[in-house]
Amino acid sequence: MLTWSTVFETKLELIDNQHKTLFEMVSALTDVAPAERTEQRLDQILDALFDYAQEHFVDEEVLMTHYKLDEQYMRLQHMEHKSFIYDITQMRNRVTDAEGLSVQFDKLARFAASWLVYHTLRVDLMIPKQIALIRRGKTPAEAFAMVKQGGCSPDVSKLVLDAVLHLWDEAMERVHALEGQLEKTKNHTDTARQA
Ligand SMILES: [Fe+2]
Ligand SMILES: [Fe+2]
Repeated sequence: MLTWSTVFETKLELIDNQHKTLFEMVSALTDVAPAERTEQRLDQILDALFDYAQEHFVDEEVLMTHYKLDEQYMRLQHMEHKSFIYDITQMRNRVTDAEGLSVQFDKLARFAASWLVYHTLRVDLMIPKQIALIRRGKTPAEAFAMVKQGGCSPDVSKLVLDAVLHLWDEAMERVHALEGQLEKTKNHTDTARQA
């Protein structure tokens, strides 16, 4: 269950409002009643989520450019933003026989929630910190180096760790699914060769 709290606040009004909406959109996946968990409903929710996420990512990247944040940091942000849509699309397309549609709703919601928690706390919260440091006279590179070294409270560390562990589990599951596909392809090729 993804719940908004003050730990996620960047204190940048536009960004915080958009993050809150993204949290709500991801939670909406788990709120769908079992009887309504259809392919169409899933695609409808994901399409809306992708549209809104794209809009948010663009706004965030425009804001970072406006404040002239470090280029390396902005590249990291851009890469992670692209991975959100890519990874969810890959998961959506990976339909396994054993996995029911209802389970897929929950899995996608858990993945998107973990990604949002990790990315907001670990990456987006660096935005206001870098803006403050640049205002105090640091160069963008110095500001990025300083925020990378900065720690966070035990509560935030725990949230980040739980989210990363879940993303890791999901990545492992994807690797295993790919291995399974490779094995099937290899068996097909061997059978074709022997025929
Ligand atoms: Fe971001
Ligand atoms: Fe964000």
